[in-house]
Amino acid sequence: MDKMASNVKRLLCQVYNKAGSLILPGRQYSSDGRRLVTLIPGDGIGPEISAAVQKIFAASGAPIDWEEVDVTPVKGADGNFHLPKKVFDSMAVTKVGLKGPLATPVGKGHRSLNLALRKAFNLYANVRPCRSIEGFKTPYEDVDLVTIRENTEGEYSGIEHTIVDGVVQSIKLITEQASMRVAEYAFKYARDNNRSTVTAVHKANIMRMSDGLFLKCCRHVAENNKDIKFREMYLDTVCLNMVQDPTQFDVLVMPNLYGDILSDLCAGLIGGLGVTPSGNIGETGAIFESVHGTAPDIAGKDLANPTALLLSAVMMLRYMEMGTYASRIETAALSVIRDGKTLTGDLGGKSKCSQFTEEICRRLKESE
Ligand code: NAI
Repeated sequence: MDKMASNVKRLLCQVYNKAGSLILPGRQYSSDGRRLVTLIPGDGIGPEISAAVQKIFAASGAPIDWEEVDVTPVKGADGNFHLPKKVFDSMAVTKVGLKGPLATPVGKGHRSLNLALRKAFNLYANVRPCRSIEGFKTPYEDVDLVTIRENTEGEYSGIEHTIVDGVVQSIKLITEQASMRVAEYAFKYARDNNRSTVTAVHKANIMRMSDGLFLKCCRHVAENNKDIKFREMYLDTVCLNMVQDPTQFDVLVMPNLYGDILSDLCAGLIGGLGVTPSGNIGETGAIFESVHGTAPDIAGKDLANPTALLLSAVMMLRYMEMGTYASRIETAALSVIRDGKTLTGDLGGKSKCSQFTEEICRRLKESE
């Protein structure tokens, strides 16, 4: 009986927060219709680009309030590093986060906090739309594709051990549950975003059991979603075809490691990580993030390009069903890039992060 009562209490806590506001998955409404979002500014250029996004949101009038949390890991009694409690408390209420880049020490200290966040909140699908930016010259002009990467297992399960000196084993874990979940998300995403084709990317010819299971799940889901065209392709063939003609691709779904690599390749087609947004989607919440690193070489110099974080925040607004604000901010940012007069150094310009930000704010105010 006690267990039942505590389960009921837990469920009620998920529906109402302490202040009595109604919480729905992925969105919290306050009494005046504003929404609270967890902001993880991150390291290096993270605080500068986060401040730029906050400024642009304020100029757009988007009814978003930010709860800023630091995710510097804390050393637990077990000697291991953990995410601070504050981030769990905040996400438990907001269900939606926006995150700047986080530094990962190589070979020592804490493990990747990006991975820790994805695991902690079970953010099972990493979504990266890659669309050419009009007026911004790249080798390809009309790229418009989306990579959807399984985000919780595969080669990134973190199961590694030494068998004998000089021999290590790393386990690639593929489960039917996670494969079905991400495949279903890919088809739903395609339908919700008026896209026609989902391509499953795999190496089931070599990894017959693991990728075989992933592919079997994609085929099964495709059977139930006949309105969306389904293709299956080997990863190496996708890479070859992608650099020859990326316009042939629409939505691509794949296991974790392939997605990590292929999504960066796709970002390169449209101008790099500085302009590519991403979202990590879970069953009850999501974290949107810029995919570039902390850029220590330019941190604190007002030289960073905030576009990737801003476009991730635009994705976040669409996720929160605030599409009108999303479109206004996106249009203003892309128009500044298209005009080419106020660009940051990575885009070939000479402007500071603050000048680029101001110009977007100015256009938003102009368009009111
Ligand atoms: P990086 O992406 O930080 O830097 C690579 C190059 O791109 C640098 O020249 C940098 O100045 C430039 N750059 C990156 N973002 C930029 C932006 N928004 N505007 C202008 N220029 C930009 O990659 P790096 O040097 O390999 O990694 C540095 C740190 O970042 C490491 O600690 C790494 O672990 C972390 N990292 C974090 C990621 C995340 O949190 N999602 C992703 C990749 C790296």
